[in-house]
Amino acid sequence: MNHIKQAATGLATLLMGLAHAQVSVPIPAFTPYTQQCNVCHFAYPPGMLPAASWKKLMDAMPQHFTGQVMMNIDTQEEISKWLQANAGTFALVAEEPPQNRITQSAWWTKIHMNNPKVPAAVWKKPSVAKGSSCVTCHQTAAKGEYNAKSVQVPK
Ligand code: HEC
Ligand code: HEC
Repeated sequence: MNHIKQAATGLATLLMGLAHAQVSVPIPAFTPYTQQCNVCHFAYPPGMLPAASWKKLMDAMPQHFTGQVMMNIDTQEEISKWLQANAGTFALVAEEPPQNRITQSAWWTKIHMNNPKVPAAVWKKPSVAKGSSCVTCHQTAAKGEYNAKSVQVPK
């Protein structure tokens, strides 16, 4: 699928260290996903986790981190299948991160941790928490755009 290729190219380019990479990881439209998963946090791009992580994460519902996510079992299955079908297939995303967290992926921590653009104190702010609120800093994350130009780190 085209968007997966785009995501693959975006992230691969980025980690090869090329400057001004246009990083795009689009979120394909799927109403059940938006309705159930764009509630407590923004709906993460399926391409940022491997299929096995999405399956584990969805199988673990309704217990979901510090929250409880209740939904009809058919909807849960439907979202799980859709996430797996649209999961990241490129090398960087192949490895299952701890806790099925994007923010525990090697590529994510490499970009964000010990980055002078994000002082350590910023990670303690409630609006930033563990980094899972991508939209706090990436103004265009909901559109799947993560290029460095649209980043605004809260003071
Ligand atoms: C009731 C609120 C709630 C709903 C609804 C919800 N989540 Fe979450 N989600 C959370 C909380 C709380 C966390 C942990 C946040 C943290 O510790 O930074 C989280 C974290 C995550 C993470 C890990 C983020 C990271 O990389 O650290 C993923 C992936 C995720 N949710 C996917 C989903 C999916 C898929 C759905 C829809 C089926 C969903 N969430 C619906 C509350 C919710
Ligand atoms: C506290 C602010 C902050 C949060 C929260 C945050 N990021 Fe970032 N992110 C940055 C900064 C700053 C950069 C730019 C790094 C650089 O230019 O050195 C960046 C860069 C990126 C890039 C590479 C963009 C490029 O063009 O180089 C990706 C992809 C990305 N972030 C994804 C995410 C995702 C996904 C989340 C949520 C799970 C997230 N970020 C949460 C601050 C943040």
